[in-house]
Amino acid sequence: MCGIVGFTGQRAASGILLAGLRKLEYRGYDSAGIALDAGNGGSLSVLRRPGQIAFLEDAMDLPDSNMPQSATCGIGHTRWATHGPPTEQNAHPHTSQNGLFAIVHNGIIENYAQIRSILSAKGYVFRSDTDSEVIAHLIEDAYKGDFEEAVSMMLEQVQGTYGILALSSLHPGTLIAVRKGSPITVGICRNETLIASDVSAIIGHTDQVIFLDDDDILVATPEDFHITAWKTGPVSRPTTTVDWEPGAIEKGGHPHFMLKEIYEQPEAIENTLRGRLIEADGTSKLAGMQMDARELANIDRFCIAACGTSYYAGLVGKLYLEAFADLPVDVQQAAEFRDRNPIIQRNTCMLAISQSGETADTLAALREAARKGATTLGICNVVGSTIAREAGRGVYLHAGPEIGVASTKAFSCQVTVLAMLAILLGRGRRLGREAGQTMVKQLADLPDICRRVIDASDTIRRVAARYTEMHSCFYLGRGYMFPVALEGALKLKEISYIHAEGYHAAELKHGPIALLDKSVPVVALAPDTPGVEKTLANMQECRARSAPVLAVVTAGRRHGADCADDWIEIPPCPAFLTPIPATIAMQLLAYHIADLRGCPIDKPRNLAKSVTVE
Ligand code: F6R
Repeated sequence: MCGIVGFTGQRAASGILLAGLRKLEYRGYDSAGIALDAGNGGSLSVLRRPGQIAFLEDAMDLPDSNMPQSATCGIGHTRWATHGPPTEQNAHPHTSQNGLFAIVHNGIIENYAQIRSILSAKGYVFRSDTDSEVIAHLIEDAYKGDFEEAVSMMLEQVQGTYGILALSSLHPGTLIAVRKGSPITVGICRNETLIASDVSAIIGHTDQVIFLDDDDILVATPEDFHITAWKTGPVSRPTTTVDWEPGAIEKGGHPHFMLKEIYEQPEAIENTLRGRLIEADGTSKLAGMQMDARELANIDRFCIAACGTSYYAGLVGKLYLEAFADLPVDVQQAAEFRDRNPIIQRNTCMLAISQSGETADTLAALREAARKGATTLGICNVVGSTIAREAGRGVYLHAGPEIGVASTKAFSCQVTVLAMLAILLGRGRRLGREAGQTMVKQLADLPDICRRVIDASDTIRRVAARYTEMHSCFYLGRGYMFPVALEGALKLKEISYIHAEGYHAAELKHGPIALLDKSVPVVALAPDTPGVEKTLANMQECRARSAPVLAVVTAGRRHGADCADDWIEIPPCPAFLTPIPATIAMQLLAYHIADLRGCPIDKPRNLAKSVTVE
């Protein structure tokens, strides 16, 4: 959830760290801080501020900041609060009692209360409410002249999840990083090393990175680094080339990352499809699955685990796999998957869907399924992410970096991958060649359909302007439109702070209809898909209760003026692909409502991009 970055080299570290934190701010933005080593063996210099990175940058510029601006080694952190409110004293870095060690931490130390009382009894004084501060004191307590040894001994004491970066003025130019459950990436440059919780802070400096594995300890100096598997010995980890353009993580002239990423969807889907459709055979090729025809034929059930928007993509995937591949599919919210005792049979294939590839609940579900013997596949966007690596095989989205906290292009690309997967599996079962060819052609046309939805952005903004004052609303859909209703409501609530509920159109009358009146609008997802006539009847039920209805329909198919008060039209589209353009329209609706309300769209309160705590 938090973002961490470290630098050791020949150049001034502060600017590099602040620029890195800016790139990571989407991961958490409650407070931020940096620690620098002036190289004189004395106390480390630490500056922290509640709120955005900009406040930290302003504080750095003040003449009385007392920060050694020419220091060439330091660590930084942007926080998403778990233990203790977002205040200066809870912001990272945390220093040890003697001020000679500083750490930044992403994750949760589960036994911190117990460690705190042991250290307090030894005379250590705690200055924050965080679980993280114990790490700095434990390192000081264990230190006998060997920094790496002290970090290793600290690891003996802590339980939980962590990505940690540690700095000590007793070892100038040295950074130590450890990971367990929270990602750490190392950027390899000439005469300098960058370490960060994700590649966004590294690209621009180098495209050569190494992803640490759990229990790895990295010791880095400007010239060199080595990795030790904790309690095992030296290891080498493969170097990966990251193909993201540095400009891909800039806003490119758009007011928000979210809008940029909504607009990028046609191209992102093209990238997801590239080289994967085989029109002649009416099928797809998903090389990353590394499964031959026999293995594919042996799968007799799917189990999908994911969170939030990725979970809703999974709900669409269930419809695809059932309809086109005749396979039973169980889709579960990842946390629920783990907490229950999921049934994994011999030929069950577990699909973990995650944009970031780091979501803690999804990772835990994947591990549980693997432990029970399931074949595991990941559908991830971030290359080299933990879920992608642990699943061992799967399909990358190739959607490019998604920085906006509200997920947009990942959803479209996840659904696109799931459609290709269903076609591939279907072709090994009862989906005929001609039907497959038709679907493959329809998929190839999808980016253009999405472009036409985006072209209607201004029209959707005009409709949005009529819904900025509402306090609560419902999104209704059935069949392919049910997951879209859930996702539409999620987008609206997270960025506009308007209460929104996604409901199956048929379920409304089983309770929530009691809430409808003229102040509670209904967004009815009624494009041409199976079951739309019934949704039209549900819209009438809403209007009969005076609820304003905003209908999302296929262009030219308004079904009579008495059905709705407002309309959003999406281009004609094969029914199975309609979730994608319909969702893009819902992303735009949410975006424009939030923008007209003046909300901080890329940094909605209380949210973080990557949820690495359970
Ligand atoms: C909503 C949103 C979240 C994520 C969820 C899973 O806009 O972004 O609901 O979809 O936290 O994240 P990933 O896909 O990274 O596992």
